[in-house]
Amino acid sequence: MIRVPGDKSITHRALLLAGLAEGESRLSGLLPGEDCRSTAACLRALGVEIPELPLDGSEIRVRSRGAGALRSPSIPLDCGNSGTTARLLLGLLAGLPVTAILTGDASLRSRPMRRVTDPLTRMGARFREDGEPDRLPIQVTGGPLGSLAYISPVASAQVKSALLLAGLTGGVPVTVVEPHASRDHTERMLRLLGVSVEAGPGSVGEDGEGAGGWRVSLKPTSGPLPPLEFQVPGDFSSAAFLAAFALLGGAGREGLRLGGVGLNPTRSTLLQVLGRMGGGVEVIGAGEEEKGTGEPVGDLVLRPVALHATEVGGEEIPGLIDEIPILAVLAARAKGVTRIRDAGELRVKESDRIAALVVNLRALGVEVEEFDDGLAVRGTDAPLCGQVRTFHDHRIAMAFGVLGALPGNDIQVEDPQVVEVSYPGFWALLAELASGSRTSNGEKKGGRQPVVTVDGPAGSGKSSTALAVARALGFRHLDSGALYRGLTLALFRSPVPEANWDDLSESDLSAFSIELEPRGDGFGILLEGEDPGEALRSREVTRRVSRAARIPAVRARLLELQREAAREGGVVTDGRDMGTVVFPDAEVKIFLVADLEERARRRLLQEGRDTSPEAVAEEAKRLRERDRTDEEREVSPLREPADAHVLDTTHLSFPEQVDRIVGWVREHID
Ligand code: S3P
Repeated sequence: MIRVPGDKSITHRALLLAGLAEGESRLSGLLPGEDCRSTAACLRALGVEIPELPLDGSEIRVRSRGAGALRSPSIPLDCGNSGTTARLLLGLLAGLPVTAILTGDASLRSRPMRRVTDPLTRMGARFREDGEPDRLPIQVTGGPLGSLAYISPVASAQVKSALLLAGLTGGVPVTVVEPHASRDHTERMLRLLGVSVEAGPGSVGEDGEGAGGWRVSLKPTSGPLPPLEFQVPGDFSSAAFLAAFALLGGAGREGLRLGGVGLNPTRSTLLQVLGRMGGGVEVIGAGEEEKGTGEPVGDLVLRPVALHATEVGGEEIPGLIDEIPILAVLAARAKGVTRIRDAGELRVKESDRIAALVVNLRALGVEVEEFDDGLAVRGTDAPLCGQVRTFHDHRIAMAFGVLGALPGNDIQVEDPQVVEVSYPGFWALLAELASGSRTSNGEKKGGRQPVVTVDGPAGSGKSSTALAVARALGFRHLDSGALYRGLTLALFRSPVPEANWDDLSESDLSAFSIELEPRGDGFGILLEGEDPGEALRSREVTRRVSRAARIPAVRARLLELQREAAREGGVVTDGRDMGTVVFPDAEVKIFLVADLEERARRRLLQEGRDTSPEAVAEEAKRLRERDRTDEEREVSPLREPADAHVLDTTHLSFPEQVDRIVGWVREHID
């Protein structure tokens, strides 16, 4: 059974409510994606104790002394790419006696915020826009609030939740009417904690104002919020990508089973739409609420089907708003023209998703019509090939990733790492499903996967190649360079003076705690059990890493670690001595070569530098020197492994080069 990562929306809410509760909350199944890590980091800055979000969804304990103990942070709260973090925090802080500046990445700083700050201002909170109007960064000054009855022009769970949280922290009644019901996780969780939240069709006032929409009212509670014990269900929105892949035949005739998926009716409207498009989805155990979560959970069994077009709009939209990118991809493979309307909200998501879908589908040769509030897609069964721009939007990347992983299509997704926001490990899993190395039940098929080594001189593009090959095969990339940086950082932080590093023995170095932890499509590095984060790329480390890498004891210490990480195979690794020293028994060895000038040009391009003939000649001179020292050095000199495939990439494009290597590995597997 494949388990999708924890629900993003619910993870945010679980963390925020645990931060407001008094005592120790126990949370498991949390999504460790970047968005939720942003929420955790903001709460830490406000004084809540939250450990790192574990990659395997295991339980964590969150400690807080309650809403009243949250303090004004000394640094701006960085919400990263996460609209939910920003908007829900604006509401939560509005009712507390704190001042905080909220900001985020370029995408988040271009998204509207007045949809929450306007009604919160009516309640009495104060906001200062430090950037563009209606945009982050925004300073919030919370304090005593008045009650609110509000008709929201948009069906937005973020707006509704922000206002309910303000009512909660400000201790005042709040009623929100939205045009259609949006996801109701906040309401469900608040009820679990004993807060009175009523919902139903209706209006704000007795005169029927706002009638016809969906009404949600919160009555304030007295006393602190109790701690939570909560298991986050799998994210329906993440499951939707794998489901689409299986429906389109990518997981083979047997299809796929996805287990433990959240099936909240305000989130799973896609199932209804898929029913109209041809079915293929069986839901098992829907309606059963996962213990103590108040959220229905079940399994999805998916089989390939021939899809046909449908019309989607009106009140269906809020229940599938995040699934529209993948729905548009399904529409591209369905018979007829699928029309999606009333979805103008898509223009203010992590990207303008209507524009992103239109531009990318057209680039692949799909016929699309763009509307202000949606799009129409004519299905085709022609092979779809080309480059896709993600606009830094995780769901755009995953939707087209699914399309690209289907047989016959050839699609390159620019910046695939954006999926880390909501689905760490997505690419590896997708590639495994595509290559048939998992059964329909999600089990990995037997047989050890090979270890692939990629060696070559400086500037031969080893590490980007190794990463792309790993992703294409669903293997993990073992970045030896990062590992050397890790040990260099540990040395730098240790009391051993730099002048004495060369005298360290292997047993001295065994006292340094350094571990590799499978993470996403690679490995994370832990020093003393902690992720060193950006420190790995600091100037201090960059300056010392090549010196540290020449120390024989350092190489010996890391040798074992690398072999251990690759013990079960399915790893692509790059370096200078991977195929000769570290993995002499690797099943597939690659040695990359390219003309000196070409390597110099690529280096300059990669670093964003000038590529005039003079600059290239200068860089080529430096590389020639570097080649000589690399070949002549005593410790781990650069050598071509006798049994390597030598790949001259001078005249190959990057995708061609990756394809060749993937081909060699596949030959080996077959
Ligand atoms: C979310 C609500 C939705 C959704 C977003 C998560 C939430 O946004 O698109 O991914 O967790 O409340 P809107 O409330 O803006 O529709």
